[in-house]
This record gives sequence, C-alpha cells and structure tokens, in this order.
Amino acid sequence: MARTNKAENQNKKHLKLQDNPPFALVESFRNLSTNIGFSVPKKGDGRGRVICISSAIPGEGKTTVSVNLAISCSGAGERVALVDCDLRKPSIHRFFNCEGTSTLVDYLSGEANMEKIVAKQVSPNLDVICGRKPAPNPLLLIKNERFQSLITALEKEYDYVLIDTPPLGLVSDALEVAKSTDGIILVTRQMVSKTPVIRQTVSDIEFSGVDFLGFVLNDYRGKNDSNGYYGKYKYGYKSHY
Ligand SMILES: Nc1ncnc2c1ncn2[C@@H]1O[C@H](COP(=O)(O)OP(=O)(O)O)[C@@H](O)[C@H]1O
Ligand SMILES: [Mg+2]
Repeated sequence: MARTNKAENQNKKHLKLQDNPPFALVESFRNLSTNIGFSVPKKGDGRGRVICISSAIPGEGKTTVSVNLAISCSGAGERVALVDCDLRKPSIHRFFNCEGTSTLVDYLSGEANMEKIVAKQVSPNLDVICGRKPAPNPLLLIKNERFQSLITALEKEYDYVLIDTPPLGLVSDALEVAKSTDGIILVTRQMVSKTPVIRQTVSDIEFSGVDFLGFVLNDYRGKNDSNGYYGKYKYGYKSHY
C-alpha cells in the first residue's frame, strides 16, 4: 500500500485493515487478537470479553489500534462492538459510516436509548458506537450508571467489546471506563513513547486495581524494516516490563 495523500490521511483510511493493507500488518493484528484471546479467558456464562485500549499520551495509536483490532477480530468471525469512549476527542466516526445514529454522549445523557446509538454491521460482524463532538463533562458522563448498563448489555450480545479511550497520563477517564471492563491494553509507539512514562502509567493502572493485560508496540520498525510508513504492531505481556 503506497503512502496516501493529505486528504486521505485526514480520513485515516490508510490505516484501516480493510483497505488492502500489507500482509505483515494483517498478520500483526491477527497475532494481537489471538494473544488477547489467550490473555483474557472466555467467561463461563457466555458474556463477551470487554477490553479497554489506552496509552499514556495522545498520538500513540489508541484509535488506530482499536479500529484495526476490531476489524481483525470481526474478520475472524467474532461478533465485535467497538465503542468510542474518548469523549474528549472522538474519532472512530472517521473510520466508519455512523451517520443516522445518535452518539454515546446522547445515550449517557439520557437523550437516546441503546438501539439508537449502535451503527450495525459497518462491516461483517462489526457494530460501532461513535461520538462526534467533544463532550463538556466526560468524567461525569462515564460515572453515570447508564455507562455500566451499556457495558452489561453489550457483553451479553458480543464476543468482544473494544473500547477506545483518552490518554491515561492526562485524564482519569480511561481508568474510570476500565473499571467496568476485563482490563486495559496499553498502546506504546516507537520513537514516541518514553520508558519512564510507560512505567508510571503501568503502575497507575495497577494501583487503580484495573487489570493490566499487556501492551501493543505500534509503529515498530526493525533495522531492515521493509514495511515503510505503515510500520508494524507487536503485542507483549506485562511480564516484558
Ligand atoms: N503504525 C502507524 N503507522 C503510521 N501512522 C500511524 C500509525 N499508528 C498511528 N498512526 C497515525 O498517528 C496519528 C495518531 O494516531 P491515533 O490512533 O489517532 O492516536 P491516539 O488515538 O492514541 O491519539 C494518526 O494520524 C494515525 O493515522
Ligand atoms: Mg484517539
């Protein structure tokens, strides 16, 4: 896949697995979804796995990883709900057609019911819940009991509920969201993420009592990497730290 022009970049389509991506990228996400399947055991009562995707700072690839992980899992036949819980900077709606649906904020503030916010089958097996504009009071909305009800309803219906969140190092939204989930995956980005910041973030997660599931190394480039601009994604476990 060649480097895309500015207009396409703004649409972020170049980083979607569905747009004829390089084999290595597809493979990386396949491995990532398999590893997540191993690290979060299937629940006996049939409820799906609920996984929060975050990182320490903006721009490390939380949204990119969330979107591609959702595409990869749903492509493997799992029923997936992808939820944009970055109420401060929603961006999942740029990747999928969510027109005609209300937003997560509409639901949390009681203005819409659950049926109204789920964009169904944006691709096979994949439903999404989007945002559009930044919300004025994100933390308050997430703490609302409607959020917990939503997660409870989603985990009954889907094999995977994947939740994109704001950076952990800046605001506490992600930890609040993660309390209702099976744990957090931390996205790190080569040339961007700093080890002391990652260590601090992992320790914050562990201190909060939320399960730390492992990390994704995004935009990885080996010495002789032929993947160019698109980089690679690697998945590791917390024991690697
Ligand atoms: N592996 C990658 N290779 C190239 N560009 C990437 C990669 N991962 C993310 N990006 C780009 O970096 C920017 C930030 O990514 P994004 O997923 O929005 O980060 P976050 O959600 O953590 O703020 C976006 O423009 C995205 O397209
Ligand atoms: Mg984001």
